[in-house]
Amino acid sequence: MAMINSSFKEQVQLLSKIATNDGHSENSPYFDAWKAYDRDPYHSINNPQGVIQMGLAENQLSFNLIKDWVVHNQSASICTTQGVDKFTDIAIYQDYHGLPEFRNAIARFMEKVREEKVTFDPDRIVMSGGATGAHEMMAFCLADPGDAFLVPTPYYPGFDRDLRWRTGVQLVPVICESFNNFKITRTALETALQRAESSKTKVKGLLVTNPSNPLGTTLDRATLKDLVSFINEKSIHLVCDEIYAGTVFNKPEFVSIAEIIEEDTKCNRDLVHIVYSLSKDMGFPGFRIGIVYSYNDNVVNCARKMSSFGLVSTQTQHLIAAMLSDEMFVEKFILENRERLGSRHEVFTQGLAQVGIGNLNGNAGLFLWMDLRKLLKKPTFEAEMELWKSVINNVKLSISPGSSFHCSEPGWFRICYANMDDETMKVALQRIKKFALQTMGALEVKAKKLSCQRSLKMSLSFQLRDGIMMSPHIMSPHSPNSTIALT
Ligand SMILES: Cc1ncc(COP(=O)(O)O)c(C=O)c1O
Repeated sequence: MAMINSSFKEQVQLLSKIATNDGHSENSPYFDAWKAYDRDPYHSINNPQGVIQMGLAENQLSFNLIKDWVVHNQSASICTTQGVDKFTDIAIYQDYHGLPEFRNAIARFMEKVREEKVTFDPDRIVMSGGATGAHEMMAFCLADPGDAFLVPTPYYPGFDRDLRWRTGVQLVPVICESFNNFKITRTALETALQRAESSKTKVKGLLVTNPSNPLGTTLDRATLKDLVSFINEKSIHLVCDEIYAGTVFNKPEFVSIAEIIEEDTKCNRDLVHIVYSLSKDMGFPGFRIGIVYSYNDNVVNCARKMSSFGLVSTQTQHLIAAMLSDEMFVEKFILENRERLGSRHEVFTQGLAQVGIGNLNGNAGLFLWMDLRKLLKKPTFEAEMELWKSVINNVKLSISPGSSFHCSEPGWFRICYANMDDETMKVALQRIKKFALQTMGALEVKAKKLSCQRSLKMSLSFQLRDGIMMSPHIMSPHSPNSTIALT
């Protein structure tokens, strides 16, 4: 052990600060939940008592539609008899602007997801390795080490890694709370900005996620307008992560920041940037298709040069260009996918409601922001961790505690429901329902016991006092013959 420690120490001295700091943020309950699943993954036949992965925001509900398209469009792949003629063209070096047909198809897809209310210029589409790479690229383009972005809480834990680790940029939480459904208010923004400024931190931007991960809600038009006027007033950037734009399954309708700035002629467009990806809306996180769409020409130019470090492979660009150019397929996919997400959401929320578990009223995303406050022994983050460990270890559900999303109130948990089949979802729902009933029952018994003990104690103390008062052996101090003073 001592040897391992000393060699680790030597390694620390040999390697860079980035390589040896904890900036990846891997030591967090968010990632621990994934590890719990990796150690003991559920399988309906081989491991029915295993951990069900509900900590991963993955969309697997519409894969049959994609597979079907792939089967019927073999020429879209360079690795089939029908597509191999394109192999050489695609395999050699390509312009880092991306294949024109890919950028066109992405721009059109982004418009379709936003119901054609806005237009996107293919020349402003910059590629990156997923939204992960896109966020880091944004941070590199907009801020210097030590500068900060304001981020409303609760927020996606990956931001702590993506924006901070290699760039040296900081994140300043904007505290949003449950009493108003975690609304991003002007007061909360001003407070966060002042906090940063009083610690001499230069704020370069505001990063919002719309629809929100983990809340599963969309920002309304008024809030978006407020955000735009806030960043214009303060001359800071606005980065909108719209990675879940295509997952909105219920009203209110999704409003993209693109709509707001197309309407608001006074907005300084140079300050506005969209981060997008096909990881959620199409369910392709493995393809690593991330997008930066900036309204600022200099940012587009710089990001394009930086994209050399994380280009999407041309093979993937080629396939996706063909798939997304099939407008009929895309339109059907977007509608069907939303519908499937909506019904999964309904089944899950109704199941939880049967045992009295509520959630934030969401209309988007691949998850629920579940309210387990009444299952906490105490309203503390320690109690939240205790409950979370119990869910992982005893219920065998890998969910994520609110604290890992920097939520300011204990008792909220994110539970993902779109990364599994119907059968697994039923098992997960059964498990959590049983657990909720047991825990609520135990807390009720405990509360009853406590109140019994309290009333017993009170009645004993009354009896004791009354007994003492009434005892024929002790005289009342007020008795004329009193010999013992009662204090
Ligand atoms: C809000 C948000 N942004 C970015 C990402 C990263 O996405 P990608 O897989 O495209 O890198 C995620 C993934 O969960 C996310 O939820």
